[in-house]
Amino acid sequence: MENNIVLEARSICKSFHDPVKIDVLKDVSFKLSRGEYASIIGRSGSGKSTLLYILSTMDTDYTGELFIDNVSIRNKSEKELAAIRNEKIGFVFQFHYLLNEFTALKNVMLPGFKLNKLSEAELEHNAYEFLKDLGIEKLAHKMAYQLSGGEKQRVAIARAMINDPLIIMCDEPTGNLDSKNADIVFNIFKELTETFNKTLLVVTHDLDFAHKTERIIELDDGRIVGD
Ligand SMILES: Nc1ncnc2c1ncn2[C@@H]1O[C@H](COP(=O)(O)OP(=O)(O)O)[C@@H](O)[C@H]1O
Ligand SMILES: [Mg+2]
Repeated sequence: MENNIVLEARSICKSFHDPVKIDVLKDVSFKLSRGEYASIIGRSGSGKSTLLYILSTMDTDYTGELFIDNVSIRNKSEKELAAIRNEKIGFVFQFHYLLNEFTALKNVMLPGFKLNKLSEAELEHNAYEFLKDLGIEKLAHKMAYQLSGGEKQRVAIARAMINDPLIIMCDEPTGNLDSKNADIVFNIFKELTETFNKTLLVVTHDLDFAHKTERIIELDDGRIVGD
């Protein structure tokens, strides 16, 4: 069903001029459905992060077309894109750190302040519930810098959920985690797709992780070579 599609990439091409032109993404097309759990794999330099940056609407310098929730993001202003990101997409990116000077709970609430749809009390309630779902409500009032890597990652997942997004995108979510914590993250994502009908798109070099997801999109030299 077309109306089940939450993201569509149509013939996305991207080049860098460094200073000679290199084609980093070549005619990348695929669709993601609601509730799907997909991973993007490929060796280092194959274009995974570049693609995720485009799909997350943060990079608009490419050819082809991207639809989020059946709306083309072409010709949107920076402000409109920010609104789409806030409302539709949750991020668990490695560079998207928690703010150390805030508690876990406040960190989870922050994207909710930006969206500005719920009161502070409602946000606090929801943030606490997400921490509870992830089994870390006892960390709510700890400062972010007091948390371990695995705990931070779970707080980042709760933060990605706070605005009830359609899609959650992650770049190397298990990058710094041991296999036990990587399994925990895998299972949390699975639960999000099954219980909350979220769509998960995970870029990973962790093949054990990828092979457990429902769908693997393989990039090689900027092209999809397996799906
Ligand atoms: N800002 C940039 N300027 C020039 N080349 C870049 C830039 N960012 C990435 N690249 C190149 O694009 C290719 C894909 O990079 P990337 O998307 O980071 O790959 P991956 O995440 O799969 O390791 C690499 O060859 C990389 O060197
Ligand atoms: Mg990368």
